[in-house]
Parts: sequence; structure tokens; C-alpha cells
Amino acid sequence: MIQFPPGFRFGMATSAYQIEGAADVGGKGPSIWDTFTARPGTVRHGEDGRTAIDHYHRYAEDVGHIAEAGVQDYRFSISWTRALADPDFYDRLVDELLTAGVRPVPTLYHWDLPQELEDRGGWLNRDTAHRLADYASAVALRLGDRVRDWITMNEMNVHTLYGYALTDHAPARGLGLAALPAAHHQLLAHGLAVQVLRTHGAGAIGIANQHFPVSAAGDDPADQFAAEMFRNLTNWTFSDPILLGDYPDEMIRAGIGTSGAQLDRDLELIGARLDFYGVNFYEPTAVEAPREGKDYAGVLEVDIPEGLPFSPVPVKSDERTDFGWAIVPGALTEILVALRDRYPALPPVIVTENGASFHDAPPGPDGRVHDPRRIAYLDAHLRAVKAAIDAGVRVDGFYVWSAFDNFEWAAGYDERFGLVHVDQETLTRTRKDSWYWYRDLISGCGATD
Ligand code: NOJ
Repeated sequence: MIQFPPGFRFGMATSAYQIEGAADVGGKGPSIWDTFTARPGTVRHGEDGRTAIDHYHRYAEDVGHIAEAGVQDYRFSISWTRALADPDFYDRLVDELLTAGVRPVPTLYHWDLPQELEDRGGWLNRDTAHRLADYASAVALRLGDRVRDWITMNEMNVHTLYGYALTDHAPARGLGLAALPAAHHQLLAHGLAVQVLRTHGAGAIGIANQHFPVSAAGDDPADQFAAEMFRNLTNWTFSDPILLGDYPDEMIRAGIGTSGAQLDRDLELIGARLDFYGVNFYEPTAVEAPREGKDYAGVLEVDIPEGLPFSPVPVKSDERTDFGWAIVPGALTEILVALRDRYPALPPVIVTENGASFHDAPPGPDGRVHDPRRIAYLDAHLRAVKAAIDAGVRVDGFYVWSAFDNFEWAAGYDERFGLVHVDQETLTRTRKDSWYWYRDLISGCGATD
């Protein structure tokens, strides 16, 4: 049994587009993910989130699966287009959670931008940051009497990389390095949201940033340079402005498209104090300088824009999830320690996402879903968190991605991350062995408020 410090918070995480469904119920308008998934060839098997796991209608049952595991926190996201049209849904969800003794931890933005803002330039348009602040204010007015903890943005790096630099996610812009202004405007949105949430008396505010160690694939100085640049672009670009007050290098500062006094003012907002810092972790990355004639797109299954001085390559690992991701728990300890070393002002960390996709078999004759590899994955990563705590990093919580099998973006429903199995035909929920394992771990740790 792993022992965590008193007050350590266990949780589960989800996001709106991945679970809610009810795509146009209650006057909800379309987001960029509704538009993207409607285009042929964007998602495996042509799947989409129109019904997802129908959490919108089944939220009461779902809160039962969350609460009965004994978690302290539930991280979910608010759909921007739903919140404006049909905020009652989030009232009901929050009330249900509080009644069940679970603390709601909503994320304001988990990649589902209103399509009407995309039509006006999306995150390339500075005004989108101000629109997010308006939306944050509306949501805080509605839920702020019951919600204490808030997460502003989710994985701005992945949203920028896959949605703006490449074409694998909505809005599929494929801009390469010209995607950098989308990073700055999301960071600005974060800063403005913090300001708004503070004026509404929020209890604790954080962000969920994906982080991962980046190593050079070889000793060649060109590989070292490639890794350094990739590390800056995918990790530190999204955390340095928040925790150090500036971008990591000149190239990035030149690329974000904002400068002078306006940039100074933006950085001031973006660098506002946070109460916790959310880290999403999945796998480390290795990077090399591109080699003549090597087919990177084939290896990585993404189109890498021409002319970049780096290319990610698969990390060496004996073990992989069924999604093909390397299982390297030590990399979680490594990145937590690296964050502590880089940022003297690092607030207490919460691991806001960690988990694994395995293609679990549906419930067998015994009615159970056996997922020993997910249990092993989570056990190893919790030990990695404990190792970081022992090394002096303050980590206050750990949320499993995900509570339920759900819509894994461009990979559709094949990739199952849930502690609860969902049959996509019948939408029946079945607690997996990992759900029982997590419940027993939490009760064994005796973590309380
Ligand atoms: C990060 C994202 O925040 C989440 O939406 C996604 O499903 C998981 N990682 C797994 O890829």
C-alpha cells in the first residue's frame, strides 16, 4: 500500500465533448469539434461525439460511479456552447456531486471552441481571449456559490500542436510554427480568466498543462539542439509565461505575434499567482534532427510540416499501452522534479490527468471487466508521484484519466481510458477491476479532507 501525505486528494477526470453527447439539446450551438468530426476522414471509423456516452442524460448514474469509488474530487469540463444556452445542466451536475460528497473541479476550456468564434479566427484572434473571459464570468456567476476550485484551460500545447500546427484535431489549421499566436492567445485567456474568477471570489484556481520529459534521441549536437527546441515549444512555452513571466526563447517571443507594451501587459496578467498547478502526464518524448529520406510521418502517423529542425521519434520502451504509448512511470517523477527545479514559485501540483488506454474486453460471463494492465499502469504512476513527493515536490492530488471510456478525439471510441467500461451500443456502464482497485486504494490511504 502506497502512503500519501494527509489531505492528498484522489480524483477522476473527464471532458465535456468526450462524454456529454446531447449535441444540440437545449439550444446548444456547435463547437469546432462538431464541425471537425462531421468532415469525412477526420476520426477513426467516422465516429463523433454527438451521443458520446450520453452523460448529459445519465449524469446521475455517472456521479454514482464517481462518488462510490470514494474520490474527493471530480474534474470535468464545461462546454462553452452548452453553458451559454443551457446552464441548468451544470447546476444539476454540481448539485449532484455535492450531495454525493464529491468536490466539483470544472475546467473552463477543454478544446471545444464555439464554432462562431472559430469563424472569426479562433485562437488566432486575440479577441477570443476576451470572449473566454466573458464566458468565465457568466459561468462563475452561475456556479460560483457552490464551486470553489477552478481549472482555466486544458493542454494548450496539445490544442496548439494538433489543432493549429498540424491537422489531426479541430480546427485542423496545419500552420506549423505560424500556430504560435494561438498559444499566446490561450495563455492570455488563462490570465484573463484568473482575473475574472478572482473577482468572483474563487477559492482555488489552477490550470491543466500537459508536461513530459523530452530527450535527444542521440548525442549528436544537432539532436541536442532539436530536443531543446522541441522542449521549449511543447513544454516551456506554455508554463514559463505563467510561472516565470516570460517565454523561453527569442524565436518563440518573435513568433507569438504580440510585442512591446502589449506583451508586457499580457505577461503580467498571465503570470498571476495560481493556487495549484495541474500537470497532465502520459509519456516521455524523444526528438532528433531530421534525417534525409526518413519517413517521420509514417512512424508517427501525423503529417510533420516541412522545414522544421526537429522531429519526434518513438522513445525506447519495452512496454506500451494499446494506444502505442510508451509506459515509463519514472518519467512522471522526472518531470515533476524538473518543474520544481525550473520554477521557484511552483504552486502545489495536482496531477490533473494520468491513465492509459487498453482495449479491454467487454464484461464476460462473470459480469466483470478485467483490466490488470491498467491497474499496473496506475499503481506504477502513483508510486512515481510518491517518489516525487519523497524528493521534495509538493503534490496535493492525483486524478485518473478517465472515469469512463469515452470519445478519444481523432481515435474515436477504440481507445478506452476508463475505470468504468462503456458499451458503445447500449451505453451500459460496468465498473472495471481498476475501479475496485482504485476504491480500495483510496479507502486504504484514508485520505480525508
Ligand atoms: C489529454 C486530454 O486532456 C484528454 O482529453 C485526452 O482524452 C487524454 N489526454 C488522453 O489522450
